[in-house]
Amino acid sequence: MKERISELNKEVEEFNIHNEESLEQFRITYLSKKGLISMLFEGFRNVPPEAKRDTGLLLNNLKQSATNKYNEHKERLAMIEVAGPSVDLTMPAYPFAEGTRHPISIVRNEIIGIFSRIGFTVSVGPEIEDDNHVFTMLNFASDHPARDMQDTFFIEKKSGIESDPHDVLLRTHTSSVQVRVMENQQPPIRTISPGRVFRNEAVSARAHCIFHQIEGLYVAENVSFADLKQTLLYFATELFGKDVNIRLRPSFFPFTEPSAEMDISCNICGGKGCNVCKGTGWLELLGCGMVDPNVLDACGIDSEKYTGYAFGMGIERATMLKYGVNDLRLYFENDIRFLKHFRTEIL
Ligand code: PHE
Repeated sequence: MKERISELNKEVEEFNIHNEESLEQFRITYLSKKGLISMLFEGFRNVPPEAKRDTGLLLNNLKQSATNKYNEHKERLAMIEVAGPSVDLTMPAYPFAEGTRHPISIVRNEIIGIFSRIGFTVSVGPEIEDDNHVFTMLNFASDHPARDMQDTFFIEKKSGIESDPHDVLLRTHTSSVQVRVMENQQPPIRTISPGRVFRNEAVSARAHCIFHQIEGLYVAENVSFADLKQTLLYFATELFGKDVNIRLRPSFFPFTEPSAEMDISCNICGGKGCNVCKGTGWLELLGCGMVDPNVLDACGIDSEKYTGYAFGMGIERATMLKYGVNDLRLYFENDIRFLKHFRTEIL
């Protein structure tokens, strides 16, 4: 009897159940009333009493493993029926690779958060623009170098004359969005405009033909340069930490007067001077100034009544300073090894 049990154990183990028919065959052969295992139970009566205990145990185990095998395969075949034959639901799943947010998105969202907390709204506008909104209304002289093909991607030149306001081009800065806001809304205006901008530059570690900007605009009664400075100090300490210092250097933009560039103290050396800040202790971050009255007038805002400030920065530049990334091209290559550095809780 014991020999027969171990023979059947082996048979049960080796029996190949691959479809409904072989499953049924297995059941009939081993588990049905007239099956081989039931027959062994019948024969059990004749086993001598002293061997009953051992043999009974083996016999029960045999029945148990045959039943288990039957049930497992029955379940498996049922699942295949649901999912289709090509899917084996018992296979272990592939590891799930969790994505990361792009560093530009992280810093953009952080900057949006910083300005939202002091009442700035977010506005967006078209990437394909006309000369009027990118240059003319922003007080660019008709011979300004930015209006040259060398610096701007033109899509359509409308006429032979240079700087036709109807020329179609890719915006070179998001100041065009601010023009559109001012055209459509009277002060008080307090908004930031994030977005992609395009410039006709050779791609290198320090320049790219496409990058991202965030520009800010505040127009109301009695807005002063002091307001601008305080807002920028708040912004810099929120983004770079409370120990950061700022300084403003005189500069020039056609659409602001006076204009300035803002530096932050070098966060690598803490302002002492290192090779990142080229020994100066300062890193350039953004351009800013008081909105030129010509721009307000061009947009239909009374420049006798209202004043405003504006500022604008490259998001790549801010990200570079925050995370110490020194090659602009990395932002556009989408190399997973680079992107994985930016696992973050910030949305
Ligand atoms: N538009 C400027 C640029 O693209 C940045 C800027 C915005 C400067 C607003 C001053 C005020 O460089």
